[in-house]
Amino acid sequence: MAASPTYKAGLEDVVAGTSDICFIDGREGRLVYCGYDITDLAKHSTFEETVYLLYNKRLPIREELKQFDAKLKGYRAVPAEVLATLKGLPKDIHPMAALRTAVSLLGNFDPAAEKTGREAYVETAMKLVAQTATVTAAWERIRQGQEPVAPRTDLSHAANFLYMLFGTEPDPYHAHVFDVALILHADHELNASTFSGRVTVATLTDIYSAVTAAIGALKGPLHGGANEHVMKMEQEIGEIDRAEEWIKDALAQKKKVMGFGHRVYRTKDPRAFILEEMAGELGRRAGNTKWFEMTRVIEQTVLKEKGLYPNVDLYSGAAYTVMGIATDLFTPIFAVSRISGWTAHILEQLGNNRIIRPRAEYTGAEKLAYIPLEDRPTQAN
Ligand SMILES: CC(C)(COP(=O)(O)OP(=O)(O)OC[C@H]1O[C@@H](n2cnc3c(N)ncnc32)[C@H](O)[C@@H]1OP(=O)(O)O)[C@@H](O)C(=O)NCCC(=O)NCCS
Repeated sequence: MAASPTYKAGLEDVVAGTSDICFIDGREGRLVYCGYDITDLAKHSTFEETVYLLYNKRLPIREELKQFDAKLKGYRAVPAEVLATLKGLPKDIHPMAALRTAVSLLGNFDPAAEKTGREAYVETAMKLVAQTATVTAAWERIRQGQEPVAPRTDLSHAANFLYMLFGTEPDPYHAHVFDVALILHADHELNASTFSGRVTVATLTDIYSAVTAAIGALKGPLHGGANEHVMKMEQEIGEIDRAEEWIKDALAQKKKVMGFGHRVYRTKDPRAFILEEMAGELGRRAGNTKWFEMTRVIEQTVLKEKGLYPNVDLYSGAAYTVMGIATDLFTPIFAVSRISGWTAHILEQLGNNRIIRPRAEYTGAEKLAYIPLEDRPTQAN
């Protein structure tokens, strides 16, 4: 049976809901959170303020931000039992697999996990924003055989994450770059992981379950996993002067080059411009511009050969690598930011909920006569 003419593979351009949170203009290359252009937020806002904006759909006044920030800080520490369980996991699993388990575990230790109502939902969302950072940093320490570093409450969300990761206070420029990276990755409309989160919570399950589903979706290389694969590709290329030929060869073999292409953007992702600039500056400050320069060669080659533009994942790796962050931690770091968008969408979904249940066009066999097991051939054909 042929597929319906209204069916769109991958739900391309299908509008699956309304939202006041995020607007993408794929032709002009604009990304807007609740009316504010991402470029302005990257320049003037903080991650904490951006989370407030996504939850409340307006910027806070000073006292509101102070209270919101204090609450987030108060939620940073995670139960000792969660850390103890993480210590029992195999050390060589992917950090996204560890994060998926950690978030699910956090739900088990939150007595308010099943509470309902907007107030309770916002508290859960804030706990998840605060604690996703803590468990991600903790896993990095645990897998290296080190003790997790307890969070501090006198540092911003970005600076505290780097502090928990490395055990020392970060360079202020690194903390700034990380804060901007968190703002840039915070939300992106109905991307695969956010859609997973909305679909899951629309059954009226708990928020931890919905975020666990979203983490599973982000892990894949076609989504959040791409940033890690960009850096792995660059490590494989090895030297800047090999990049052009390597990319041409990969494209000739019809391979996908990670960090390029997008379902919505038809131009360079606006986030990539900002990450590119920061990766260059970080490289210059560290006296190591190799990854930045190689990334630019890759960008020019893919554009020339295939007409494809970079997405958010192309330049983040060059920036994080110079900051000393392990390659396979890039996707969990994406989650440390995107938890804000996931929870904002979950709050929006719960505020006006209807279960999400589309249809499939049936294309299989019909009206077959059932043959008893003993009458079927002995060999499968
Ligand atoms: C993002 C992505 C999944 C979007 O997928 P999509 O909307 O389904 O688009 P398609 O995969 O159908 O791509 C359309 C065409 O462009 C090509 N293309 C898309 N992205 C490409 C890439 N990164 N490298 C090489 N070719 C690519 C496809 O091969 C396809 O070509 P064809 O029509 O000749 O078969 C896809 O661009 C991709 O796989 N990119 C690499 C992974 C990545 O960076 N993901 C992070 C997204 S933020």
